[in-house]
Amino acid sequence: MKDYKKLIDPAALPKHIAIIMDGNGRWARKKSLPRIEGHRKGADVVEPVVDAALAVGVKALSLYAFSTENWIRPDDEVSGLWTLLDIYFQMKLEKIAARGIRIKHSGSLDKIPTDTRLNILNAMDRTSKNSRLVLNFCLNYGGRQEIVNAVNRWLDSREGASPVQEADIGKNLYTSDLPDVDLMIRTSGEYRLSNFLLWQLAYAELVFLDVLWPDFRPHHLYKAIWMFQNRERRYGGI
Ligand code: IPE
Ligand code: IPE
Ligand code: MG
Repeated sequence: MKDYKKLIDPAALPKHIAIIMDGNGRWARKKSLPRIEGHRKGADVVEPVVDAALAVGVKALSLYAFSTENWIRPDDEVSGLWTLLDIYFQMKLEKIAARGIRIKHSGSLDKIPTDTRLNILNAMDRTSKNSRLVLNFCLNYGGRQEIVNAVNRWLDSREGASPVQEADIGKNLYTSDLPDVDLMIRTSGEYRLSNFLLWQLAYAELVFLDVLWPDFRPHHLYKAIWMFQNRERRYGGI
């Protein structure tokens, strides 16, 4: 296996990496385990991946962990996912804070169970002064909902009757403090966006990997960054 980490050019890192962490259910099914075991294993993978991002100097990492569409899953899976997130924050918050990571949430807090909502708010508050890496948890997140929300925020803030500009939308998105995504990675061999960061992915390089999220390791991240660095980005030019 190539040592992709060594091949990465530290001067040309993606400013913002976004990951659709997909394939937990299939990982569990392959092992004849309940789906929640796949999610448990998937949660374990987050820490080494964040450490890998830190190790190469990535400044913003968005993780898609629960979409606005995921509520249609069976109740026990949905509540199991929130419980796993509670455990993650309880177990990892001090480690995350000590590493200089700032936790951010993108999505609507409305429907999220109260305990989890408080954990998220507490984690954001506890790490608000950190700046080494922004770890953006996309929870109860939908790309369309984000754009509708941004337009409504803009309408609320509006003085006069000027027409909406791209910048007006951008500054009202959940991610207004993050750069556009340079690199989007989806695991599990599915080739779709599933309502993830529709606006921010406008010119992202997309990398689809045939690995189930619980099997994702730092070398997969390094490989994706290396692939990104070997793409030619043209932004509509020639
Ligand atoms: C991704 O894994 C995690 C969430 C959507 C919460 P899935 O649960 O979608 O796994 P598959 O796609 O069924 O394998
Ligand atoms: C996208 O995965 C959402 C997350 C990874 C959180 P899904 O598994 O929900 O997407 P679909 O249903 O396959 O499009
Ligand atoms: Mg899935």
